[in-house]
Amino acid sequence: MFGKQSGAEAVKSQRGRSNAVYFFPYEKIMTNWTGVPLNEAHNFQVRKLEISDKSKGFVELLQQLTVCDAISDENFEARFQELRSLGDDHVICVIEDTTCGKIIATGSVFIEKKFVRNCGKAGHIEDVVVDRDSRGMQLGKKVLSFLADHAQSVGCYKVILDCSNENKAFYEKCGFKQKEIQMVKYFI
Ligand SMILES: CC(C)(COP(=O)(O)OP(=O)(O)OC[C@H]1O[C@@H](n2cnc3c(N)ncnc32)[C@H](O)[C@@H]1OP(=O)(O)O)[C@@H](O)C(=O)NCCC(=O)NCCS
Repeated sequence: MFGKQSGAEAVKSQRGRSNAVYFFPYEKIMTNWTGVPLNEAHNFQVRKLEISDKSKGFVELLQQLTVCDAISDENFEARFQELRSLGDDHVICVIEDTTCGKIIATGSVFIEKKFVRNCGKAGHIEDVVVDRDSRGMQLGKKVLSFLADHAQSVGCYKVILDCSNENKAFYEKCGFKQKEIQMVKYFI
């Protein structure tokens, strides 16, 4: 059984900007088999991906979402630097449980530059996953809010994503609505 977030979000600064980072405490309310309360205090940090997150379980978290083989440190660094060079046009959000130094939630947003809509921009959200032991604690919602705020802050007129029917209700809780259908062509 999970509790609600304890208290107001603590330090909430620069949200939706390049160096957005904020912390919030959370008390996980549980009982043991005899009904005795066993509350766990957590402290979560919401921020952009850092290179050191590889050693904090970032890749293992992605493996809970889809096919993601082990990545060498060299390949991870190369991809990290490539994405970092895109600046605000590609942002990966992570949530670290700072009480144990583990990455427990993530999602990314890519900013597409268009000619339509007055040379408008659209955000594409991808790769959203919360660690299976930390679901139901509003962390997915925090990731979506971080990514949507970022897209809005860089001038996007919309932010879109694809999801399964199973996750439709989750995204609706995050303020999204269903529009049209998804098409895909895989090359591997
Ligand atoms: C989908 C997922 C990201 C949700 O993360 P989460 O942290 O457990 O979700 P939250 O706790 O932030 O939930 C926010 C709200 O959505 C609801 N919700 C979450 N998942 C739901 C689901 N599958 N169906 C219906 N409602 C759901 C919660 O009850 C909560 O409602 P509330 O605000 O009224 O309390 C997580 O279950 C996950 O990682 N799943 C596996 C990977 C995956 O499918 N990713 C999505 C790819 S498109």
